[in-house]
Amino acid sequence: MLHNLFWSVFTALPSEFDFEGIDLCGITGIVSLGRNNIGEILVKCSRKLTYRGYDSVGVAAVFEGKVELRKDVGTVDAVDRLLGLSMMKGDRGIAQLRWATYGPPTKVNAQPHFGCDEAIYGAHNGNIHNYVEYRRELVETGHKVRSENDGELCVHAVDKYYEQTGDMFEAVRLSTRDLKGAFSFAVGRADAKEIYAVKMGSSLVAGVGNNETIASSDLPSVLPVTSNVIYLADGEMLRLTPDTVKVYRVSDGRELDRRPEITTVDIHTAEKGGYPHFMLKEINEQPKVVQDVMGVLQGSKSDRWLKLLEDASKLYLAACGSSYNAGVLGAYYFNRLAGVPLVTAIGGQFEQMYGHTLREDDLCLLVSQSGETKDILNVLNLVKQQQTGRTLGIVNVIGSTLMFNADSYIPMACGYEVSVPATKTYFSQTVILAYLATMLGERNGRLDRQEARRVIGMLSEQLPALAQETIDRTAIIAKNLASTLLGVKDLYCLGYGLTDGVAREGALKIKEICYNHCEGMYSSEFKHGPLSIVTKNYPVIFVTTAEDSWMVINHINEVKCRFGRTIIVGEKENTLEPYVDNATDYLVVPKADILLNPMLDVIPLQLLSYFLSVNLGIDPDLPRNLSKTLTVD
Ligand code: M6R
Repeated sequence: MLHNLFWSVFTALPSEFDFEGIDLCGITGIVSLGRNNIGEILVKCSRKLTYRGYDSVGVAAVFEGKVELRKDVGTVDAVDRLLGLSMMKGDRGIAQLRWATYGPPTKVNAQPHFGCDEAIYGAHNGNIHNYVEYRRELVETGHKVRSENDGELCVHAVDKYYEQTGDMFEAVRLSTRDLKGAFSFAVGRADAKEIYAVKMGSSLVAGVGNNETIASSDLPSVLPVTSNVIYLADGEMLRLTPDTVKVYRVSDGRELDRRPEITTVDIHTAEKGGYPHFMLKEINEQPKVVQDVMGVLQGSKSDRWLKLLEDASKLYLAACGSSYNAGVLGAYYFNRLAGVPLVTAIGGQFEQMYGHTLREDDLCLLVSQSGETKDILNVLNLVKQQQTGRTLGIVNVIGSTLMFNADSYIPMACGYEVSVPATKTYFSQTVILAYLATMLGERNGRLDRQEARRVIGMLSEQLPALAQETIDRTAIIAKNLASTLLGVKDLYCLGYGLTDGVAREGALKIKEICYNHCEGMYSSEFKHGPLSIVTKNYPVIFVTTAEDSWMVINHINEVKCRFGRTIIVGEKENTLEPYVDNATDYLVVPKADILLNPMLDVIPLQLLSYFLSVNLGIDPDLPRNLSKTLTVD
């Protein structure tokens, strides 16, 4: 049975739906009739956008024709506690959550902003690329620009054209001519019972509720108001009044026929479901994710994906962060199961390393949870512009730029991944890559049919239960181990063979949510320099499969004999036991086939990083300085 959310989002997309996706920051604008507690609903919707940015939050609420603006640095809940955002009175307003790019995360740079006086208010999402020149132009022509934030320029651009035309609709429309970049914004006037919003490359969804309308950066944040939604394309603008949302083309101001449709996406799918953090919830969803993604892979579209792979003379994979780590494991699967090299590169590295060697009949796998990561879209654009090769996206966010623009795409079928650290999407990516490698291996004769069926059977029938067993077995041990690592600021996480990418992923999780330096590395490389760091009790995590443990024991020995502390992740083996100091230093995963083993090994590392993060007083869902989706270079 496929994941309900996945299909409901998928089938909810209208055919003319253009670029949609998630990117930096989140905005929400609401206009209502009769409501006087606009702060409460704006905060409720904004909470759903927390994954987009939590450097600062603000609300502009219009009450009796005056705009009250409250904003500060912090998460929506923190700023709400500090400034009482949800107590703000009014019948309309705009809220914004920021992930800082232009201007540091300070109160003055927080959004929304006012124009020159306090009549026009607004906030944006995205980047204004001509920030420097346009800010200078505005200041030189007398605009009172208060911050270093590019969102303020959107409000001043509207202000500028309002001064010239005296018409808000025209002012909003014309303002987009001055602003370069990919963005969306919402803007209103104190004396007008309407709010405008534009979509120029960043995401925006509208909703028509009962006596209130909304425009917001994604679907879940619209759902607290209504399930009656309108999807927009780039180059479109909205006029929200309490009972209607009208859609217009920005270029000529023509009204478009966009009727709302009922979405079946459930508001609770993006809730924590009783878990203290989304990260823990998402780790626990992994067994289910395997079932869902295997359902997709064994469906009717698979043939198309396999044909792309089969027809390619060379295979490349580009991805970033966790998606890249999954790609590393994928390369081992392709080598082993398909007998085909999968040339793997970090997104930002791809052009300079392989850009000139790509050929027309090559295939580039682009792996991205969000489908909006700029480094990956750069590779997509490179391949398309050069017309060298085909692209196959592996993507979670349905409606993302990667999904729409790759020659074909495989959905990860994970539903929303809210927590900033990737867990279930990494897991799904490794399943997809193992599946593709197996099927390609069968097609090119590397595997006989029986062996290919055996692997596919393991993925669909054994892996969900094994993943669940791994969670059940290792959660408490990981929690206890985490409590012994509280004072540690520096460690290594080493893998060998199939656990190469797994060790990198474990290290990335520890870096990202524990703020520790943790290097993921190939274990045979450790002796070529880094070994000098080992002194008494210096911790080194070894991730191994049963097949490679004979070799990894050498590397463990090299640390152990220098009195370092060794922590092992892998199956239970007598040969490994002498290398652990106590029960918590051995994170034992269930016995499984060598191909499934690396998939299971990542789970205790996810749990270890989670518990360590929580023990350190960090919110693992919202690590500092980061954002779920990075749409910048
Ligand atoms: O959306 P993407 O998969 O393209 O994101 C890539 C990385 O930014 C992402 O995996 C990041 O490394 C994670 N937050 C790590 O947990």
